[in-house]
Amino acid sequence: MIALRFSKCVVIFAFLVPSVCALDTFIAAVYEHAVILPNRTEKPVSKEEALLLMNKNIDVLEKAVKLAAKQGAHIIVTPEDGIYGWVFTRESIYPYLEDIPAPEVNWIPCRDPQRFGYTPVQERLSCLAKDNSIYVVVNIGDKKPCNASDPHCPPDGRYQYNTDVVFDSKGRLVARYHKYNLFAPEIQFDFPTDPELVTFDTPFGKFGIFTCFDIFSHHPAVAVVNEFQVDSVLYPTAWYNTLPLLSAVPFHSAWARAMGVNLLAANTHNTSMHMTGSGIYAPEAVKVYHYDMETESGQLMLSELKSQPRSDPAYPAAIDWGAYAKSVKPFPSDQLDFPGMIYFDKFTFTELKENMGNYTVCQKDLCCHLSYKMSENRADEVYALGAFDGLHTVEGQYYLQICTFLKCQTTALRTCGEPVGSAFTKFEEFSLSGTFATSYVFPQIVLSGSQLAPERHYEVSRDGRLRSRSGAPLPVLVTALYGRVFEKDPPRLGQGPGKLQ
Ligand SMILES: *[C@@H]1O[C@H](CO)[C@@H](O)[C@H](O)[C@H]1NC(C)=O
Ligand SMILES: *[C@@H]1O[C@H](CO)[C@@H](O)[C@H](O)[C@H]1NC(C)=O
Ligand SMILES: *[C@@H]1O[C@H](CO)[C@@H](O)[C@H](O)[C@H]1NC(C)=O
Ligand SMILES: *[C@@H]1O[C@H](CO)[C@@H](O)[C@H](O)[C@H]1NC(C)=O
Repeated sequence: MIALRFSKCVVIFAFLVPSVCALDTFIAAVYEHAVILPNRTEKPVSKEEALLLMNKNIDVLEKAVKLAAKQGAHIIVTPEDGIYGWVFTRESIYPYLEDIPAPEVNWIPCRDPQRFGYTPVQERLSCLAKDNSIYVVVNIGDKKPCNASDPHCPPDGRYQYNTDVVFDSKGRLVARYHKYNLFAPEIQFDFPTDPELVTFDTPFGKFGIFTCFDIFSHHPAVAVVNEFQVDSVLYPTAWYNTLPLLSAVPFHSAWARAMGVNLLAANTHNTSMHMTGSGIYAPEAVKVYHYDMETESGQLMLSELKSQPRSDPAYPAAIDWGAYAKSVKPFPSDQLDFPGMIYFDKFTFTELKENMGNYTVCQKDLCCHLSYKMSENRADEVYALGAFDGLHTVEGQYYLQICTFLKCQTTALRTCGEPVGSAFTKFEEFSLSGTFATSYVFPQIVLSGSQLAPERHYEVSRDGRLRSRSGAPLPVLVTALYGRVFEKDPPRLGQGPGKLQ
């Protein structure tokens, strides 16, 4: 053990951060922030007014940073749109933007605030990091002037980017990431031409970073993990929950598990927009999460994480997602399948008719198998098994293969797939699998009241079955194997690696 520590220190001394030894673990913090929004205006406000509003938000973030640092946190992540919100046109966001240089310039704004023009936001964030000796991750807006020498230059002579910045514990700008997969309503920002894979090294592992809607894509989300073998991913987001399949905590924790990395997810908080759900997720476990539709308050969370989860004995083994389902015959039945919509995708469903049983439902190349046993088959609740194999085409285009079993909104079968909040039916046993043609499958189980199922109550076997473990019967709202087939995506989302060269 001593020898190991010594060699780690030498490596660090030689290449990275002098005078700091590698840490086996670190303390991560995320802050779910209830953003103070500017008033909606068509006419841009003055630079001073914009700064006033941003400083109000940074005042709140500052309290969280100080509290986190006091409790020993090494790094804190704050949400996307966290210092000015999301209510903008291209013109009205302009006074909120600063020119953010590339980290290669080696800049500590707190020490040298004038070096790149007027950058009060970067100066304040850098000082926050430096004064509290903590890495600070914030989402701000970047502007880059351009002119006719660039054929893609927008008519107003500038690019505007949704941007994550990271300041290290000395206040140095160490990462800048321009969001690649903008969500449809983000009309205030430009798409970067090429996806950036942004990483940086720390004494507590290698980090990658991307933003919100990027998590559905191959570039940069999957690429930054696979090509750089990062240990942890920083993830500012402004995510509005849409049940049954796209709620922040279940989806993000499933992504961390499937990709085998720590994920530090900080969501914006606004209950009328259904924005809540932040957490710290390790590959083997959800460390802490926060989901609050009751109050309008922010929330700080901290948790200890392994700096290099891959080298840990508890690191989950790779899963061959289609293995089991492809090895068995479809369950025989005289069932009647019916269509149903989940978030604009047309699933094929079949009803779970008895208190126990075996069903198979197929769509195109995907067959989903379910074996289950309920404590009782209630007359007032209906469950269905569903399959979807196709291109999702609303608010972005991405190819999905999904197996799910869920509670229907009412006892009418046409409501299967519509959001529902609570369930009384308890499942004593279940095993869900599918004939997936991808290794990117994100497994989730959401219980009554939008709670996550504790890990001790289920497992994912190496042959791709999501199974209950004997224990307490679970009030399942929805269970899903959410598969992404990147090869079948149209360009932009999921661009192949060739695109980068
Ligand atoms: C928005 O407008 C109201 C009424 O004019 C004002 O009281 C409030 O301070 C404004 N909010 C911001 C963030 O400027
Ligand atoms: C156009 O922009 C480039 C950099 O993007 C700059 O080097 C050049 O001086 C600019 N030309 C004019 C006429 O402003
Ligand atoms: C939440 O967002 C909506 C839509 O942008 C806004 O109208 C509302 O004021 C926000 N709520 C709070 C508490 O800020
Ligand atoms: C479901 O299938 C398993 C074998 O795969 C069998 O042991 C079990 O009896 C079946 N259950 C029902 C209710 O048909």
